[in-house]
Order: sequence, then C-alpha cells, then structure tokens
Amino acid sequence: MKILKATPGGGQKLYIETYGCQMNVGDTEIIVSIMQKEGYLYTTNIDEADIILVNTCSIRDNAEQRIWGRLKEFQRYKRAKRSLIVGIVGCMAERLKEQLLEREPIVDIVAGPDSYRDMPKLVAAAQVGGKGINVALSQDETYGDIRPVRLDSNGVSAFVSIMRGCINMCAYCVVPYTRGIERSRDPQTILREVKEVFDAGYREVTLLGQNVNSYRWKNEQGEVVVDFPKLMEMVAEVSPLLRVRFATSHPKDLSDRLIEVMAGHNNICKAIHLPAQSGSTRMLQLMNRKYTREWYLGRIAAIRAAMPDCAITTDLIAGFCTETLDDHADTMSLMREVGYESAFMFKFSLRPNTYAARHLTDDVSEEEKTRRLTEIINLQNELSIASNRRDVGKVFEVLIEGYSKRSNEQLCGRTSQNKMVVFDAAPDLKAGDYATVRITDCSSATLFGTLV
Ligand code: 5AD
Ligand code: SF4
Repeated sequence: MKILKATPGGGQKLYIETYGCQMNVGDTEIIVSIMQKEGYLYTTNIDEADIILVNTCSIRDNAEQRIWGRLKEFQRYKRAKRSLIVGIVGCMAERLKEQLLEREPIVDIVAGPDSYRDMPKLVAAAQVGGKGINVALSQDETYGDIRPVRLDSNGVSAFVSIMRGCINMCAYCVVPYTRGIERSRDPQTILREVKEVFDAGYREVTLLGQNVNSYRWKNEQGEVVVDFPKLMEMVAEVSPLLRVRFATSHPKDLSDRLIEVMAGHNNICKAIHLPAQSGSTRMLQLMNRKYTREWYLGRIAAIRAAMPDCAITTDLIAGFCTETLDDHADTMSLMREVGYESAFMFKFSLRPNTYAARHLTDDVSEEEKTRRLTEIINLQNELSIASNRRDVGKVFEVLIEGYSKRSNEQLCGRTSQNKMVVFDAAPDLKAGDYATVRITDCSSATLFGTLV
C-alpha cells in the first residue's frame, strides 16, 4: 500500500502576479517551484486562489502606485473568501517592510527577495491568524539548487539567473536596498539548468543579473575561476543550436575579453544592452556611474570594431537632479552618435533613501521632465526606424518563436540582433527552428521578410 504523506500545501491554489523586471519573473518561477514541492498548486485563475502573491517592483514611484491600486482591488476577493491569504513579495516588500502591513490591512505576508525558501512557513503562519514577515537579505542566497517552474514561456527562449543583487550604488537606484549585495550563482547549477532547458527544446537562453559583467565564481582559495566571459563561453558550448544572450551590462565593466568571446561565437547573439542613463559626463558623475561620456563612446567603438553588425540598446533617464538643458542636449547627441536600435526611457523618479534622496535635489519640474522625455522618445523612434530601414534587403537567421500575433499563416521570430521578424509560414517550419529570411519591409517595431 502506498502511503501518501500529507503536505502543508494540501492542494491549495496559489496565484501570483508579477511586476517589474525579468529578475522578478524568474523569482516568481522559483517561488512556484518551492511551493509546488510543498503541495501547493499553481493557478492562473485568481477566482479560485487560496493564496494571492504579488511580486512587486520599486524602481519608480509609478510602479509602486500601480501595486497599491491593485491591493485595493484584492479586497473584494478577500470579502468573497475569508480564508484567502494575500502576500506582497519582492522589492516593494523589502523596501517598505512592516509599513506594508500597517498601511494595507488585507496583507498577510511580506517577503523580501531573499526569503522565498521560507514561503511555505510564512503562508502557514498567516493561515493560523498571524502575519508572515521575512525581509532579511542574504549575502549568499542564489536559489542555485532550485529548478524554476517555467511559466508563460514560448518554449523557445528561457531566462537563467546567474547572479543576484547589486553593489553599484547608482545615485538614483533603489535596487541595492531592495535586492541586497551582489553575489554570483555557482557555474555548475547554471550549466545544469542551461542543459536542461536545451534538452526540453528551448533554443535560446538569456543569462540574467543586475550587472552580469561582474559575475565571478571563486574557488576555496578565493581565486576567480569563472568570470563572465568564461561563463559565456561555457554556456555557448552547450550546443551550437543554442543562442545565448545576456542582460544587463554596466558599461564600466564591459571588458574587451567579453567582446572577443561574443565575436568568436556564432551562437552568442550580436546584441548588447548597455544602459547609458545620460550623455552628460556631469550627470554621469552625479549619478555615480563611474564612467564618462567619452569612456562610454570608447566602449561602443570597441564593440563596433569587433562586431559591426551588433545591435546596441540602452536605458535613459530624463530630468535627473540638477539636469540642465545642456545636459539634456548631451543625452540627445549621444543617442544620435550611437544610433541605438532601441531604448527604455524613463522620467527620473526620486526614490526614498537613495543617494539622490539624501544628498541631491529633485529640481527639474514634472512638466520639464515630461518634455525632455518626449523629445528623447521621439528621437529614439526616428533612430529605431532608421535602424530597421538599414536592414531592408539584408538576410538574417531567425529563431522562430511561433505564429505571429495577427495570423496563423505567418511566423515570427528574432534575429541575433533581437529584432522581431514576421514572414509567411512554410509547412516544415515550427517554433524552435531556424529560418533564413530576407527583409523586404519594416515598421518602427518589426521587420517583415520572406524565406530565402
Ligand atoms: N527613476 C527613473 N528611472 C530609473 N531607473 C532606475 N532607477 C530609476 C529612477 N529612480 C531606470 C534606469 C535603469 C532601469 C532599469 O530603470 O534607467 O537602467
Ligand atoms: Fe526589478 Fe529593480 Fe523593479 Fe526590483 S526594483 S523588480 S530589481 S526593476
């Protein structure tokens, strides 16, 4: 006779909403893995949930405002089911700690990014009428041994976390406070995870971390045995059919060795996300970015020299403390000089406790921030279209992700440069296959082509 062990989860249903960056998406997959082991079942239907978790983001004030709004909406689920448990996890939980419980009575659990192994215990505490709180940050937690449960995946591209936390202390940024100190995951479990996703049919992995260029794994003697270029090589060698990407890089740590490794492997994608934040050296210094405009442009030149076809994308902040019209003009001219393929562009949002909040003044008006951001966005649109137009007539190898959003007669996939291509389907092609496509037309966001 088989004896079934009762698990604390006992088939209860867990629903999770995820906000913020790709790291959070990965963390949600770790939480689901931990909870499933304890007998909880994952659901995408909030109406049947016994536990609702919200994996939160604190990067800008509007990210947090959205979550406060969402918590208000959860009140009706709690009214409908008295036993429902609501938990706030992730960056906002770490930043606000107990204050979250005080400000929003429907919250039962507050769990920071390093406490997910504790989640079953926190749920159990909440279920006997207490509040479950764990916001301790760790120096070494990487969840390396946990196999994330891939949610919402296209079955072709997977994200693999290689490090956690950040120590760069950019003046505007809340991440070092919410995600703790930088630490690298061991290369063995990274490689094991990459091989497992490849064997499961995935054909692209993106190695993730707040600053992947400072990945380093040390042996017992404290010597660095695997750095980021080495790790990239090891991952690229899993299979020539596996594409490798990474995000995000800090320009100060983008080494020549990494550029060399990228250029030397066909399956390492020719795309670098290199957040500039500003084109003004004065602003960069105030932001504590540790590079100048000239240094940044030097890195771009090195990338272009080794890989003329490499796409370069960026993050930009409009209206940081004391930013003048000249500083803003420097950002616009940097954008033109680099000719970014695409960019994430933000209005500066002062975050509590950061260096900016403690020592600088947020003196650019909201209207002026909006005006500068609009200029930046309009310029980037021009640059993106210009970049896409340059691709018309060229031939690319496209990794197929599935049917296009509009029609089942068209397939879509990405180039090595991470641009989306739409083209007419062929009977022998499916998601996960590579296709050779000639670009015939484009919009600002998409390339259109035909099979060669
Ligand atoms: N305000 C606006 N944008 C920010 N970012 C980080 N902190 C802030 C902030 N306080 C942007 C940066 C970073 C991206 C993830 O978010 O551009 O690269
Ligand atoms: Fe990700 Fe930063 Fe938002 Fe945290 S605050 S979820 S690290 S973007």
